Amino acid sequence: MSELMLQLNETVNFIKSKIGTSTRIGIVLGSGLGNLAEVIKVNQSIPYSEIPNFQTSTVKGHGGRLILGELGGVTVLVMSGRFHFYEGYTPDQVILPIRVMKLLGVETVLLSNAAGGVNPNFKVGDLMIINDHISFFTANPLIGKNVEELGTRFPDMSEPYSLEIIDKALAIAKANNIEIHQGVYTAVTGPTFETHAEYRLIKTIGSDVVGMSTVQETIAAVHCGMKVFAVSVVTDLGIRDNNNVITHEEVLQAAKEAEPKLTLLFTELVKVI
Ligand code: HPA
Repeated sequence: MSELMLQLNETVNFIKSKIGTSTRIGIVLGSGLGNLAEVIKVNQSIPYSEIPNFQTSTVKGHGGRLILGELGGVTVLVMSGRFHFYEGYTPDQVILPIRVMKLLGVETVLLSNAAGGVNPNFKVGDLMIINDHISFFTANPLIGKNVEELGTRFPDMSEPYSLEIIDKALAIAKANNIEIHQGVYTAVTGPTFETHAEYRLIKTIGSDVVGMSTVQETIAAVHCGMKVFAVSVVTDLGIRDNNNVITHEEVLQAAKEAEPKLTLLFTELVKVI
């Protein structure tokens, strides 16, 4: 067995010994979006520091707990806090929890993130369903020896985000009067926000938002055969020409304000997927 599979098994066995039941749905909460964890009826909560091979979240606005609980009456496994490449973690470390979810029986992952809008029609606080991504500016997490037990060497990426789940999310948004966009998320490494020229470039290549997470997780999830649904909260508008100073505090504040919409969307979605 490969070193990676041994490591994954160690983590999976530890978590199984703590949580007992299995669940089909995994959720990853993005920057400032940890509040969803507050509406979950928590059955088990394990700090990342106790989980073998998990890292600790070094970023403000990111919790650091794996939670098994009930959302809208449905059992879910929630990562409150994720690991980013810019924290100095390797892509393997960033995606380890996604692979662990797969081995724990998760079939669908719901991802959320805070992102900068480059589509001029977007406003701060808007939600955008990610229907495609551009990963060229970040390291592909599958670089290296392929782990055949998990998936194929050359995974197809024609539908990284499940169209079926997107349709369900659109229906939920409509029924609840939530304005929601769809579009392309471009991943960058961070931790710097982008320069004017970079935001312009990112817009020109066909992006609607830009952010520092999610895409490596999506690639890992698709590689091992999971369905992915992902939503960005637009926390700043990178495309403004003037007065475009962006701070982490502003990002967290905007995420917090938009959070109830995201919580409602995820709560309804887990009931129908
Ligand atoms: N750029 C990159 N990542 C981000 C941004 C941004 O403008 N806002 C929130 N995360």
